[in-house]
Amino acid sequence: MPYIPERFPRYKDYVLPPFPSLTCGLSEQLDKIKNFESRESDILICTFPKSGTHWVNEVVNMLIKGSAEYGNVSKNTVMLEGIGSFEGLDNAPEKSTRIINSHLPLADLPEKHIKNGYKIVHVIRNPKDVTVSFYNHLCNVKNGETLELPTDYPISWNLFVQHYCRGEELYGGWFKYEKTFEKAKENGELSDVFTLHYEQLKREPLPILKSLAAFLCVEASDELLEDINDKCSFDKMSTVGEANRDNAAVKKMSVTGKNFIYRKGQIGDWKNWFTVAQNEAFDLLIETEMKDSKLKFTYQ
Ligand code: A3P
Repeated sequence: MPYIPERFPRYKDYVLPPFPSLTCGLSEQLDKIKNFESRESDILICTFPKSGTHWVNEVVNMLIKGSAEYGNVSKNTVMLEGIGSFEGLDNAPEKSTRIINSHLPLADLPEKHIKNGYKIVHVIRNPKDVTVSFYNHLCNVKNGETLELPTDYPISWNLFVQHYCRGEELYGGWFKYEKTFEKAKENGELSDVFTLHYEQLKREPLPILKSLAAFLCVEASDELLEDINDKCSFDKMSTVGEANRDNAAVKKMSVTGKNFIYRKGQIGDWKNWFTVAQNEAFDLLIETEMKDSKLKFTYQ
């Protein structure tokens, strides 16, 4: 069985999830995104899937609001490639800060945002944990809704990890995604970018939150940063409750009842999945793919 079902929409050289917004007019939606009327006050959160997008989206929302209260806009309703209509964003008051997100490769993000150097928060996570998290996401997502995987999905972890290592992945794959970002930053194509490592945010949240607040040009007391850190901790975010609207939606989509957005939230879970041989092959792949990269990752 192929890693990605045949009917997943293909755009340029990559595959996208079959979000209704994409299956009903792929190139139209991608054109709309490219020509999106970005504003100087917009904040674009860019991540490869499973890098901690929901987490950072909540943190950024709280920093902008200046209060540690969960927002009423779900991460998924402001994901550019997933939204059906841009009307809500277009109609947002001029003075408001629109916090939007996307997993799309750099070349397909809103042109105006990139060219004008508006703010980007880019989250990176080590590729081994991303692979495990992605596999679990695909296995737990409900057939017939969201990703509409064939009923005999999932493929085995062994097959998944091999395919993942090759070129044909959702959103063009982790390696290409992160290498493109790194190069664009080096070349000065991306100017106003805050790059945040998942592992750093997990290990030393307060200094990272402080720097992020400074990047976003918001005043944040130590007390507020501590509150945000507490409200955005894995334990709080993964508790289904009134305050966490994403979770209720996520629970509904799950076949297995497992929460595949807030699953474990750990650094190094890959060790529970990779065999020695798979790990050696993956290390070789990282070495080859990232030979010209200066990026460093924390794996445990
Ligand atoms: P795991 O599957 O390893 O648990 P995304 O939001 O980009 O889809 O990323 C989801 C991953 O981020 C999941 O990883 C999820 O558990 C983790 N995550 C979500 N909220 C988190 C938090 N507050 N702290 C740490 N990890 C979190």
